[in-house]
Amino acid sequence: MNKEKMGHGQASGKIILMGEHSVVYGEPAIAFPFQETYISTKVEPDTAMVLDCDYFCGDLSEAPPQLKSLKEVIKQTLSALQQENKTFKLTISSTIPAERGMGSSAAAAVSIVRALFDYFDTPCTQEVLLPLVNRAEKIAHGNPSGIDAAATSGNESLFFIKGQPLESFPLNVSNAFLIVADTGIKGQTRAAVRDVAHLFEQNKRSISQHIKELGHLTKLAKQAILTDDAYSLGKIMNQAHVQLKVLTVSNDQLDQLVITARENGALGAKLTGGGRGGCMIALADSKEHAVKIAAALESAGAKATWIQSLGVKN
Ligand code: MEV
Repeated sequence: MNKEKMGHGQASGKIILMGEHSVVYGEPAIAFPFQETYISTKVEPDTAMVLDCDYFCGDLSEAPPQLKSLKEVIKQTLSALQQENKTFKLTISSTIPAERGMGSSAAAAVSIVRALFDYFDTPCTQEVLLPLVNRAEKIAHGNPSGIDAAATSGNESLFFIKGQPLESFPLNVSNAFLIVADTGIKGQTRAAVRDVAHLFEQNKRSISQHIKELGHLTKLAKQAILTDDAYSLGKIMNQAHVQLKVLTVSNDQLDQLVITARENGALGAKLTGGGRGGCMIALADSKEHAVKIAAALESAGAKATWIQSLGVKN
């Protein structure tokens, strides 16, 4: 054991406001770190390689297949640090609901990389962090755009385009509130991304139009935010949900919560993240409306709701 010091790493959940799925095809997306939920990793000396998290506690080599991406990020990070033969205990604790489109797999990887770099007293820059996390995300999601790694590791909202330098983007809309609601159903990001790719292969012309339209709506959303226009932003979110349905990434529960939000005064609503379960978001023009919409979503079956202010002036 090299020292008694512990290593710590943290990352937040993330919410995609606009552009999920189309971002994989090079279209822009808007996302922000969702600091209401977070994940922490602690590294401490041990004589064996031990993992302790919600799903497993024991020798890392015996961790179940769903933790393959985390095993990989540990291995790759130790290799980057040239500390392959060290042993320690990693304890991961999380308030990010898993597989709900909130970026829990990327956030877990971010917190692990940060904790290991901290443990070995090495500064962890974004340039080192993001490729390590994206490699783990490839195992978890197949073909990640990189948005989850970027959003869960940062403090600012982003206008994100795959492969381009990160562009922070102030997400300020006066008096606007976002309600996030969890269907309670595990999302299926990997399957959804794969199925959109199949659809795209089968019908390039039509599917690429829907993907382009989602990109166009994201650019319109950026304009609506820059002009402080919550009403247009809500309409754009509604249109994005229609496009995401065409891409087959919604499901009945998400659609039902989207309808409930609109019936209860939301300016707009859509699924967020990978879809096929997971979370939806709704936009409200006041805190009071947001509270009412959140209550209606819970009555309609949402397992949890969160309210996030979007405005600096709220
Ligand atoms: C998942 O949070 C977002 C997707 O667009 C996949 C990705 O961008 O990697 C569905």
